[in-house]
Amino acid sequence: MLLLLFMWLSRWQWWQLLGSWSRLDQRLSTPLLLQAVSKVEEMAARANCSQRLPDVLIIGARKSGTRALLDMIAMNSKVVVAPQEVHFFDRESNYGRGLQWYRHQFPVACDDQVVLEKTPKYLVHPATPRRVFEMNPNILLILLVREPVERLVSDITQLSLKRVGLGLAPIQLPSAIFQMVGANRVFSNSSARWRLREKSTPVQVGVYQRHLRRWLRHFDRHRLLVLDSGALMNDPATTLARVEQHLHVPHEITRHNFYFNASKGFYCLRRGDRGVASGNSSRSGEAGSEDPLVSVKCLGSTKGQRHLQLPEPFRHRLRRYYAPHNAKLYRLVGEDFGWPVD
Ligand code: A3P
Repeated sequence: MLLLLFMWLSRWQWWQLLGSWSRLDQRLSTPLLLQAVSKVEEMAARANCSQRLPDVLIIGARKSGTRALLDMIAMNSKVVVAPQEVHFFDRESNYGRGLQWYRHQFPVACDDQVVLEKTPKYLVHPATPRRVFEMNPNILLILLVREPVERLVSDITQLSLKRVGLGLAPIQLPSAIFQMVGANRVFSNSSARWRLREKSTPVQVGVYQRHLRRWLRHFDRHRLLVLDSGALMNDPATTLARVEQHLHVPHEITRHNFYFNASKGFYCLRRGDRGVASGNSSRSGEAGSEDPLVSVKCLGSTKGQRHLQLPEPFRHRLRRYYAPHNAKLYRLVGEDFGWPVD
């Protein structure tokens, strides 16, 4: 019983105890304990619970809202997630540890639950699709894609902030993405004098169709759900319904599980063990809930950061670069995400 309590708490902590929960106060402790005990009893009643290899992977793309998606789908009681990016398939040091090691990176899950992991690097790592296929050819995949220019600027912004955190100089735009050409290298904002660093990793991540093709060499199209990050940001409930359907889990997550936080500019999560949470669920529902059985969570400060400025002519160049790749992506996916073309 104690062991089960420990195992269950290790999952619970992501939602309730150790995370960046707002409004967590003393009043929560008694109901939480009661919930914990009843959950443990429930788990004890269900015999087949163990640490398992994943049934689903969120494979990317970096800076497309993968953390938001993971936290949101984890609100479904039939989904068990690895709280951190495991980097099993893309890091030789981890891959070399074998499937037994990988299995132990996941919380305990029962027979009626699906196990999910997200590591955005999987999308672009060349050997990963084959490795995943060798582990489980029936695995389900989710790819979240963001308009590539926005994604790129977000990526560079995050890299720059990391550097600043280490006491290094911030990254400059446009020079991180474009290289100045020509003899007279005086500063010029005319984008014609700059050449795109096409081969650089941050630029290449947004060529989604190329990565997707590599995955589709191993997996049937129907195993892969491709979602637009804009849809997740603007209408998380509808997007999560699609994810639940893809995962074949009961539809539990509704618009009541989200409220729009105007100061963050994003939807935050509201979860209550009474099913539908109390309170306002609309975009004006700025506050969370005062109900002690309902907990709220917004993503941390590394999400939704102020982007570095990239002048319009450079954005224009990038949009033109990505446009044919986006068109190929839409054809592969069978859906037009309507991203700007120039
Ligand atoms: P920005 O920081 O550029 O705004 P990832 O988790 O894959 O690194 O993606 C981070 C991005 O998730 C953020 O990029 C943000 O735009 C996006 N996002 C989508 N839905 C969000 C939500 N509900 N809360 C916070 N960020 C969200």
